[in-house]
Amino acid sequence: MSVREILRMGDPRLLRVAELVDRFDTPELHALIQDMRDTMAAENGAGLAAPQIGVNQQLVIFGVEHNPRYPDAEQVPFTILLNPTLYKLDGEMEDGWEGCLSVPGMRGVVPRFKRLRYTGVDAAGNPIDRTVEGFHARVVQHECDHLYGVLYPMRMKDMRQFGFTDVLFPDQDMPND
Ligand code: NI
Repeated sequence: MSVREILRMGDPRLLRVAELVDRFDTPELHALIQDMRDTMAAENGAGLAAPQIGVNQQLVIFGVEHNPRYPDAEQVPFTILLNPTLYKLDGEMEDGWEGCLSVPGMRGVVPRFKRLRYTGVDAAGNPIDRTVEGFHARVVQHECDHLYGVLYPMRMKDMRQFGFTDVLFPDQDMPND
């Protein structure tokens, strides 16, 4: 169990396409997931993708109960998701503020699909198949983008809605990353 260093934007390891996980329920996989959980908790993240700690595998974790980084966010069940596939449903988009532990201290408005279906497997290889919307759908899209080398600023349409968290939201006691 340990908190791992999170790579920051500019590191070329964040731009790679991650490889499929092909062995499940192994001690190495469980140790990696525990490190990711420890790292996400230490940073109050809503999610973390393995490439953000330099591990080039298709593995993301996410979940939001009450999170000071996202004080108004809907709850998202804690999920460990490997080898995900996202399916567009109706194509409706929605703008929303995002941050990323690899882009510390900043927020930006990102258009995302409002609802989607996603499939994949958990750490034991059991199937996951969910249809979600709103913040849950946003978090899944953000985290799975990390598996294809995409950081949220690359999805932004209006760079005027990109800035430092403490300047954008001076009255809110948000962590600065
Ligand atoms: Ni991120």
